[in-house]
Amino acid sequence: MTWSEELASSENRHIQQMLRNTGKMPRHVAIIMDGNGRWAQERGRLRIDGHKEGMESVRAAVKTSSQLGIKYLTLYAFSIENWKRPVPEVRFLMSLLESYLRKEVDELHDNGVRIKTIGKTNALPKAVQRVLQEAINRTSMNEGLTLTLALSYGSRWDILRAMQVLAMDIRRGTLSPEDLTEEMVSSYLQTSFMPDPDLIIRTSGEVRLSNFLLWEAAYSELYITEGLWPDFRSAELYRALTDYVMRERRFGKISAQVRSDSSATTTSTLERILNALK
Ligand code: FPP
Repeated sequence: MTWSEELASSENRHIQQMLRNTGKMPRHVAIIMDGNGRWAQERGRLRIDGHKEGMESVRAAVKTSSQLGIKYLTLYAFSIENWKRPVPEVRFLMSLLESYLRKEVDELHDNGVRIKTIGKTNALPKAVQRVLQEAINRTSMNEGLTLTLALSYGSRWDILRAMQVLAMDIRRGTLSPEDLTEEMVSSYLQTSFMPDPDLIIRTSGEVRLSNFLLWEAAYSELYITEGLWPDFRSAELYRALTDYVMRERRFGKISAQVRSDSSATTTSTLERILNALK
């Protein structure tokens, strides 16, 4: 059964329908998945158990985003700074990633998910690089959700790398500094295939971007929740999306310029969604 067939018979159908009916759903959601270690610690368990449980939340986020028709989901799975963690934990995260891709690529493919990555992926173990490349190739023509895994990723690393390529183009004479635009800078980044994130979610209550999508986040809405990543399942994602669709995005304009006639209807719909989640 595909995820959309499953949805037809589930109680989430109404909530998803209500969210979609607002007409304000984000095109791109990016998530800083934080708090796996604390989740395990609170239960007197090993950190790796937190990562295993966090994997279930990854599955829920991918499936729910796909069912909702969100076009881009970007997950901060391993930062360039995460290499500094103890070797056994890094090894475990790499094997988790490898087994996720091996086991689930069929299901992801059957549900129209296109897999992409950003980050210094040539630093990943060779076996992970291979399985990742296979998954990317296999799903490259899919037109549903684009699932981007940020792996060995750091935004400053990407910006620096982009600036080096850009400077070389200037030296070669294929680009002149006075012609440079914001769009051109974006086109040099690894994230050039995706729109800027509309919504960035961070779990575990930390209020920072931690080197994630710094250029791309200029106008993103931020949603920070105290909950830890392993507890962030579909209901939490609906809550974050409800919070997002209730916000007014002004992009520097004033409220009267952006307010739509549908605001009143939207608010009453959203109150119903929040009640359904209680
Ligand atoms: C942050 O929690 C989480 C990570 C560094 C890794 C996230 C990885 C997963 C959820 C599983 C693998 C994902 C994929 C897509 C295959 P933390 O360890 O920093 O928690 P803490 O701050 O409580 O210590």
